[in-house]
Amino acid sequence: MSKKPNGTASSVREKSPKKMENGSIGSAREKSPRKKLINESKYSMETHLIYGRSFTPKWEYSHHVVPPISASATFRLESAQRGALGFLRFAHTINDEEVELKAPIYIYDRLGEPNKEMLEEYLAYAEQGESAVTFASGMGAVSAVLGILTKAGDEIIAHKLLYGCTYELLTYWYPRYQITTKFVDLRNTLNLKKAITPKTRIVYFETPVNPTLELIDIAGVSEIVREENKKRKPNERIYIVVDNTFATPFCQRPLMLGADFVVHSLTKNIGGFGTDMGGAVIGPKWSRDQLLLYRKDFGGVLGTKSAWAILVYGLPTLALRVRQQEKTALEVARYLCSHPKIQYVSYPGLHTFPQYELAKKQMVDYEGNFAPGTLIYFIVKDESPEGRRRKAEKLINYLAKNAYTITLAVSLGNIRTLIEHPGSMTHATIPAEEQLKKGIDPGGIRLSIGLEKVDDIILDLSEGLARI
Ligand SMILES: Cc1ncc(COP(=O)(O)O)c(C=O)c1O
Repeated sequence: MSKKPNGTASSVREKSPKKMENGSIGSAREKSPRKKLINESKYSMETHLIYGRSFTPKWEYSHHVVPPISASATFRLESAQRGALGFLRFAHTINDEEVELKAPIYIYDRLGEPNKEMLEEYLAYAEQGESAVTFASGMGAVSAVLGILTKAGDEIIAHKLLYGCTYELLTYWYPRYQITTKFVDLRNTLNLKKAITPKTRIVYFETPVNPTLELIDIAGVSEIVREENKKRKPNERIYIVVDNTFATPFCQRPLMLGADFVVHSLTKNIGGFGTDMGGAVIGPKWSRDQLLLYRKDFGGVLGTKSAWAILVYGLPTLALRVRQQEKTALEVARYLCSHPKIQYVSYPGLHTFPQYELAKKQMVDYEGNFAPGTLIYFIVKDESPEGRRRKAEKLINYLAKNAYTITLAVSLGNIRTLIEHPGSMTHATIPAEEQLKKGIDPGGIRLSIGLEKVDDIILDLSEGLARI
């Protein structure tokens, strides 16, 4: 089922679900006290993030307001035939037109269970994609999507700068399987045109890029790839994979701009509270079976309790949190810009942001308002790179010991403001001499804005900056 903005997919939902085989789980529609299915298309996406779908065949829980936690690693099967049917159906959804309306036959948590599947429905909806599959972490999701799209001999084209573990996956692990990666500056789409070879299978990037927040023009990349794909056989086509972790679907929906797949670390702003790890791949319907098989066999399955927390706390509060964090981020970014000890501030919401026009076009919320995200990258001032590194370290150490509202910790998208030094922490896997070429300055600091009062964050920053 393709999902469109504002829930226009509801026509499918309004169809009657088929009678279930041996229906131990049964039809949610028949048992629900809500007699009529709700026409969701009348409501905004922000409301959908709270309620998900008015009808889900994934679990019958009509007495609860909040979905309960499923705490069972394995599932009761009423007969050998039902067990066999469950195995037969698993990862064979593509030719099954009614699959979205059937109560699944749950077998074993690693294959699927209600909390993950409900979260997957919400995530596909939030990204306006056809299907979502969750994983144990963001890296689980990144490796799964790359895993299903590549084989030995293939090439990936990636932006020159990526999150440290993704970089290591591509430079340390994949060459062992004869999958190679060309790193190019995708801010200039001409570089992409030049880098494509007959072996190219994936164009991979984050936008905004971790940690510098530079942007890649998703529609621009899509146009080039679409033209290239016109000359290719289906099994040789190139797929665009976008890591949308920094923006979240609230600020940017890459599939609507021509990307084929979106990956997320749910550990970040979608989870939002920093309590759970998780990852997701959102993509075309045909990819679901492949991703489910990959997850089953490689084992990186999202824990049920984490799926539940992201489903009931994370997604429903995403819009509220991000909108507030963006307001604060803009004020903090402006404060940093005006500070004499700061050399450079990168925040897509600033007029001085080098790709401001692209930011306004690409980073918009569900109603089209500019949504520049919740992260800031800044560089402390000093003439020498070593001087900047020392000053960044001093500032971070001061804040780690003395700040109330700023915590030294990796990760991002938390209700608490987090600070870190990418060069020595999240991006330490990139050799120091390469870091500068890729745009990570030794004095560069990443700040992930939380929900504290903006004046308090600025107070802590100003006290720290006074010490360097
Ligand atoms: C942009 C980006 N993608 C992927 C990941 C990996 O996510 P996880 O830590 O959930 O595996 C991270 C983690 O920081 C990230 O920043």
